[in-house]
Amino acid sequence: MAATLIDGKAAAASLRERLAHVAGFFRASTGRPAALATVLVGEDPASAVYIRSKRSATAEAGMESLHHALPADTSQAELLALIERLNADPAVDGILVQLPLPSQMDAALVISAIDPDKDVDGFHVVNAGRLAVGDPAALVPCTPLGCLHLLKATLGDLSGRHAVVIGRSNIVGKPMAMLLLSESCTVTIAHSRTRDLPEVCRSAGILVAAVGRPEMVRGDWIKPGACVIDVGINRVPANEPGKTRLVGDVAFAEATEVAGAITPVPGGVGPMTIAMLLRNTLVAAHRRAG
Ligand code: GUN
Repeated sequence: MAATLIDGKAAAASLRERLAHVAGFFRASTGRPAALATVLVGEDPASAVYIRSKRSATAEAGMESLHHALPADTSQAELLALIERLNADPAVDGILVQLPLPSQMDAALVISAIDPDKDVDGFHVVNAGRLAVGDPAALVPCTPLGCLHLLKATLGDLSGRHAVVIGRSNIVGKPMAMLLLSESCTVTIAHSRTRDLPEVCRSAGILVAAVGRPEMVRGDWIKPGACVIDVGINRVPANEPGKTRLVGDVAFAEATEVAGAITPVPGGVGPMTIAMLLRNTLVAAHRRAG
C-alpha cells in the first residue's frame, strides 16, 4: 500500500497563517513590526531566488523585511561593519546572511559576528551549543526545525523511536540529531563513511535523509511502515531534452511502496524552512522585547 503523503506545503501555509497573527499581536503590543534583515553578497542566481522568497514571506506575514544587497567584491571588513550596525540596531530582530559567500570571505567568521540572539538561521556556535545542552534560548536551524514539526504532526510523540539521520552537516544533520534526541528518540547519525548504510537505514522507524545525493535511499533501505523525511533538493535531467526536474535524496516511487509516511520533493520539507525562518524571527523579536 502506498505511504501517506506528508504535505509540507499545507503545513507551512497553516503555520504561516498562525505566525501572521502572532506578528500582528507583536506589532499591536510593541508599536513596531518584527523585522528581519537579509544580506546578500554578490549575484548568485539561486541565492537571489531564495532571498526573494524569504523577503516576500516576511512581508506577507506582516513583518518588516530590511534587505542589504552588497556587490560581489565587498570586503569582509565591510560586511562585518554592516553586521555590527545590524547587531546594534534596536529595530532589527533577526539577521540572515545568505550563504554561500564569495571566496574572499570566511563564512564561519562572518556568522560568528552575528549577535546570537538575532541569529535566526541558528548557525552561530553559541546557538549550536545551546541546542546541544538543551538550553531553550537556542535559535534552531530552520530546516531541521521544519522536519521536526512534520514528524510530530505525523507521528505525535516521538519518544523511544529509533531515528536514523543520514548526513552530518552543521546546518541539517547535526541539529536534526540534537532535536530528535531532545524528543527522547534513540538517534543514529549515518554518513558517507557509514558501513552497511542500507542495513542501518532499515533499522529506523524515522529516517531523515539529508545527503544531497539524488535518489540515493532506495525502497529496500526502508523499514516497512517507517516515516521518511526527505531533505534533499536535487536538480537532475528530465526525460525531455534540455529540461530538468527536482528529486530528493530518496527514490520516491520505490520508497512510497514501503514507508508508512513520506515527504514528497518538492512540497515536503522545502516550504517548512521559510515558515520556520518566520517563526525564529518572531521568537527573537519577542525575546528582545522582553
Ligand atoms: N543558503 C542555502 N540555505 C541557506 C539558509 O538556510 N540560510 C542561509 N543563510 N543561507 C542559505
